[in-house]
Amino acid sequence: MDLKWKQWALTALFLLAGVAEATVFDVKNYSAKADGKTDIRKAVISAWNDACASVQPSTVLISKGTYLLGPVVLKGPCKTPSIEFQVQGLVQAPPDPAAFKTDGWIVFQYINGLTVSGGGTFDGQGQKAWTINNCGTNPNCRILPVSLRFNFVNNTMIQDITSLNSKNFHINIFQCYDLTLKNLNITAPGDSANTDGIHMGDSARIRVTDILIATGDDCISIGPGTRNLNVSRVICGPGHGISVGSLGKYKGEAEVNGIFVRNSTFINTQNGVRIKTWPSSPVGTATNIVFEDLIMNNVSNPVILDQEYCPHFKCTKKDPSLVKLSNIKFNKIRGTSSSQLAVVIACSKGVPCKNVKIGNINLKYNGIGGPAQSTSSNVKPILFGLQMPPIISI
Ligand SMILES: *[C@@H]1O[C@H](CO)[C@@H](O)[C@H](O)[C@H]1NC(C)=O
Ligand SMILES: *[C@@H]1O[C@H](CO)[C@@H](O)[C@H](O)[C@H]1NC(C)=O
Ligand SMILES: *[C@@H]1O[C@H](CO)[C@@H](O)[C@H](O)[C@H]1NC(C)=O
Ligand SMILES: *[C@@H]1O[C@H](CO)[C@@H](O)[C@H](O)[C@H]1NC(C)=O
Ligand SMILES: *[C@@H]1O[C@H](CO)[C@@H](O)[C@H](O)[C@H]1NC(C)=O
Ligand SMILES: *[C@@H]1O[C@H](CO)[C@@H](O)[C@H](O)[C@H]1NC(C)=O
Repeated sequence: MDLKWKQWALTALFLLAGVAEATVFDVKNYSAKADGKTDIRKAVISAWNDACASVQPSTVLISKGTYLLGPVVLKGPCKTPSIEFQVQGLVQAPPDPAAFKTDGWIVFQYINGLTVSGGGTFDGQGQKAWTINNCGTNPNCRILPVSLRFNFVNNTMIQDITSLNSKNFHINIFQCYDLTLKNLNITAPGDSANTDGIHMGDSARIRVTDILIATGDDCISIGPGTRNLNVSRVICGPGHGISVGSLGKYKGEAEVNGIFVRNSTFINTQNGVRIKTWPSSPVGTATNIVFEDLIMNNVSNPVILDQEYCPHFKCTKKDPSLVKLSNIKFNKIRGTSSSQLAVVIACSKGVPCKNVKIGNINLKYNGIGGPAQSTSSNVKPILFGLQMPPIISI
């Protein structure tokens, strides 16, 4: 046998053995009951702690069945080189927000080599929480828990799961490096408050692919400090679209750099692709952002760059945004707009946008009152290919 081949075979065997050897920590062995009524948080934490302390690759298993799970923080650092949180069953949060003292339901933190998978469902049971959510208007509102939080987690794969009816965001990513989200279903009603699908910030080398998102707020929101993010094959709707921002709310926000959103479809959403920054903001930067190969199906604002983002009149438009936007490309975007103004590029008077390219746009307005229109301000867009509607500067 050829030596190279032998080495390869040995490596493959070794890898297979490694996979097969992952030690399973079944929460049922820690007296978890799949009755949908008994809180399994103690069992989950004990199983997690044992799996984390293992020297072998390890798996925490929640097998088929319905479980009630109160808030948990699943922490590293772990001894194990890799840890899988495998949910095959339906895991439900307590419906009452009063059961939560913290801002997360299931929080993963300080872990290297995490996988969350299993084909199961995380049900945030947010119905009651949405009715008391007044965070849009009350700055001292109760903070509702995000369903899945990933804080300071590296080398992560989140795949083959469903997140249902979160009380607040479904998934939040903070200070994570090398993370992939793949083959997920994220679902909440179109009128549920603040149920953003995936929010991220201060993180790098993130991939988001093959995700179905139907929710009441942004499908994906890309916050300050996000670098090197690729989003592809997302289907969004209902929801508020895929958004960079909002940026410029706080002093000292880290820059956004290197964002690609491609091959995605938006259906009956409030926005398609959007960049939003607050007026009267501190300085900030977002650069190297590409939106391309996108289909809009009855979307209110298919293409929108808004540097006067000011919901609920919570700010003053007296001074311009100081967030610098540059190297932005909108390419190959087609379909229908449910509002006449299909393309809006509203840059800051204070720091006009630099190098905004827009082309291969084919958007039709499907209402009465004439064809689709566009507007652009404080920018000299670089036009290429077809522009339908024509890009008008004011
Ligand atoms: C878990 O319990 C099953 C029986 O219910 C047993 O076969 C298995 O060895 C236990 N596993 C661990 C890791 O304790
Ligand atoms: C994750 O990676 C960052 C950057 O390389 C490093 O500073 C941090 O300590 C790592 N965290 C963990 C939990 O491995
Ligand atoms: C997501 O939902 C679709 C049907 O709507 C289903 O085919 C697919 O298996 C689901 N994916 C997951 C990860 O549950
Ligand atoms: C994202 O895509 C770009 C360009 O296609 C590539 O250079 C980059 O490495 C990708 N990043 C990740 C995290 O996949
Ligand atoms: C997007 O679709 C185009 C055309 O179908 C394909 O060539 C490209 O590889 C796809 N890119 C991604 C990131 O899925
Ligand atoms: C198109 O979007 C508008 C506004 O969001 C909505 O009222 C209307 O029902 C949608 N049309 C279809 C055919 O879904």
